[in-house]
Amino acid sequence: MIDGKFITLGVTGGIAAYKAADLASKLAGRGATVHVVMTRSAGEFVRPLTFEALTGNPVHTDLFASSYQFRMPHIDLATRADILVVAPATANFLGKLAHGIADDLLTTAVLAATCPVLICPAMNVNMYANRAVRENVERLKGYGYNFVEPGEGRVACGHYGKGRLAETGDIISAVEDLLGARRDMKGLTVIVTAGGTREPIDPVRYISNRSSGKMGYALARAASSRGARVILISAPTSLEIPPGVEIVPVESAVEMHGEVMRRYPEAQVVIKAAAVADYRCERVAGRKIKKEGEGLTLELVRNPDILADLGRQKREGVTLVGFAAETHELEENARQKLARKNIDLLVANDVTMPGAGFGADTNIVKLFYAGGRTESLPVMEKLAVAHRILDAVMEIRQD
Ligand code: CTP
Repeated sequence: MIDGKFITLGVTGGIAAYKAADLASKLAGRGATVHVVMTRSAGEFVRPLTFEALTGNPVHTDLFASSYQFRMPHIDLATRADILVVAPATANFLGKLAHGIADDLLTTAVLAATCPVLICPAMNVNMYANRAVRENVERLKGYGYNFVEPGEGRVACGHYGKGRLAETGDIISAVEDLLGARRDMKGLTVIVTAGGTREPIDPVRYISNRSSGKMGYALARAASSRGARVILISAPTSLEIPPGVEIVPVESAVEMHGEVMRRYPEAQVVIKAAAVADYRCERVAGRKIKKEGEGLTLELVRNPDILADLGRQKREGVTLVGFAAETHELEENARQKLARKNIDLLVANDVTMPGAGFGADTNIVKLFYAGGRTESLPVMEKLAVAHRILDAVMEIRQD
């Protein structure tokens, strides 16, 4: 999808500018013609020569320069581009764009662009949380600019939180989504479940699991970008709701069961990425349980198996996808689940492997098809894994 495309990459002045070199290199490696526009402060962090070497093209810094290739760089770099990406985007850049200020080559080019523009902010945690910056981001989203939100973690200044530039893989997936193209799920309604259910013990306590919800949210985002109507039935997570997705918040397995079954008739695809508790407390205390004695026994009872119920009521033309998080005997457990729950595809991952499973941004999965075929995927960003799972779903639906 990226091969042969003209990509204008704006780099503004933050420490994450060095990561833009990796992005430029990977985009060029996939066959794009990449033209980098650097702001003056970006040049304080990385030298233009780095980008020239990686892209094989001259780097543009001067609004008033012209060449035989670009007579008016700010217009040519905007109109010839299939997509314009700004990574990293500083608070200053966001502020200027949100107010239509065009005082350098990059801001003028972005204002002149008619192609999709993808903005990837990166800055200090407190700066990103600042109300002025938040309002600028919201305003820009309202104007139709696309964003890849910063990741959470340690930023260069030592603070922890949201502010570091999104991973290169996620930016590339977003570029692919915007370029295009794949609207192969248009007309389909997809239910995705995500997160770990919470089974109440009393008004303040619950039993849950380590699921972060990232895989389910990535699936919802990917399906939505491919044109599907997506209903995301989610146990509590700390994740942002992907754009265009209908969210149905739930807490317990019983609630999730109710919402999934209620919406099942509308769906052609159901993907059960949620980590559903197999048991719940038989009695939920109405008041906080006070400590008494040395031990406490909770009586647990079985929860409904949502996926198995979907499998039992499976209609013609419906594709069911289940997940299996395993710590041992992955193959055998996966095959058994596939058959027992009457589903079309099972996505199995060994959660003990580094780079797989709970909380991670990457995953290593093996796909088990109902027909017996299997496919092992390498370690990939969860969004890329999501697209591969959807590819498999679409392939099954065509058979
Ligand atoms: N699942 C479900 N409802 C449940 C339990 C699980 O819908 N009550 C779904 C999960 O969303 C997942 C799949 O079933 O897609 C596999 O879940 P898992 O708990 O790993 O499998 P189980 O069949 O419950 O087997 P076990 O717990 O013994 O591993």
